[in-house]
Amino acid sequence: MLVTGGAGYIGSHTALALLNAGHQVVSLDNYVNCTRGALAVVSDLTGREVVEIEGDATDATLVQSVITEHNVSAVIHMAALKAVGESVEQPLDYYRNNLGSAIAVLDAMKAAGIWNFVFSSSATVYGDPESNPIPETAAIGAANPYGMTKEMIEVIMRDVAASDDRWRMTSLRYFNPVGAHESGRIAEAPVGKPNNLMPMVMDVATGKRDEVMVFGDDYPTPDGTGVRDYIHVMDLVEGHVAALEHMDNHSGYEVYNLGQGSGVSVIEMIRAVEKITGLTIPFRIVDRRPGDIAECVADPARANAELGWATTRSIEQACADAWNSQSATAG
Ligand code: UFG
Repeated sequence: MLVTGGAGYIGSHTALALLNAGHQVVSLDNYVNCTRGALAVVSDLTGREVVEIEGDATDATLVQSVITEHNVSAVIHMAALKAVGESVEQPLDYYRNNLGSAIAVLDAMKAAGIWNFVFSSSATVYGDPESNPIPETAAIGAANPYGMTKEMIEVIMRDVAASDDRWRMTSLRYFNPVGAHESGRIAEAPVGKPNNLMPMVMDVATGKRDEVMVFGDDYPTPDGTGVRDYIHVMDLVEGHVAALEHMDNHSGYEVYNLGQGSGVSVIEMIRAVEKITGLTIPFRIVDRRPGDIAECVADPARANAELGWATTRSIEQACADAWNSQSATAG
């Protein structure tokens, strides 16, 4: 199995789940967006080797040689730029990198004669949904260049899958991954100031920052703050293992939501972390963040039924594991 972006937060947890399920793992990562070292910990935790290659997934020749040299039979393509705000400022970087790497990986797979492809998509393709929970059949319409790259890659996958029935393509639409492996030894460690809620709450809990800025409390939600479907990263990565197994018997293009199916508000998340840590998390209500939506919650019924996959970990568990990973990886 080749995992592009395998050294990142979701990539390293995916490598762990794949190794535990008996797969071999090759990671290709350029380390622009993550710290080094997570995959060595994954090898240590599983007692199995991860082949770690430094390089860029936009390089089709490199990807093809990795596939051939390591006898790869399937690719999970996670490598991407992922900051929504940055994508608005630097759209060309996002289109060049995210579309370029997806096309390069598909070109390399075709040239090498391997056909099983899993893609890290995002609930962001739904834009501001008409209603929640959101099924895969809902209208899509991403609201920023980052989301558009996910949407456009899904279109590319659909068209490529239709062109040759050897392709087995699965797009997994992630909701909001949080938490960490129970060991706490691999963590979400964004480079620079966190954009996302959980890493920000963790920074305040560990004293790196003074308070959480809560982006708006005037949304049409129960407490006025934004509601999201936070999914434990271990549940999320187990969804990839299930998708790969499902693909063995299904050709064509499939799309699945990977979410919990229930919503948690910003304030509820802060309260959950306070309960787990016993700390007070100072926060301040500030203006809405441009581009944010009120609510985004998955309908995971299709993945439950077709992949035989369901989440098993609670939001409290995710908070406890995120907190545990802060202390276990500190320093
Ligand atoms: N929030 C705050 N303060 C912060 C950070 C976030 O109040 O410091 C709020 C947001 O307004 C939102 C919620 O917390 O209501 C979650 O925000 P995140 O930034 O953690 O996550 P988003 O739902 O905005 O974005 C995530 C991913 C994107 C992806 C999107 C939809 O980061 O990559 O889900 O799938 F596109």
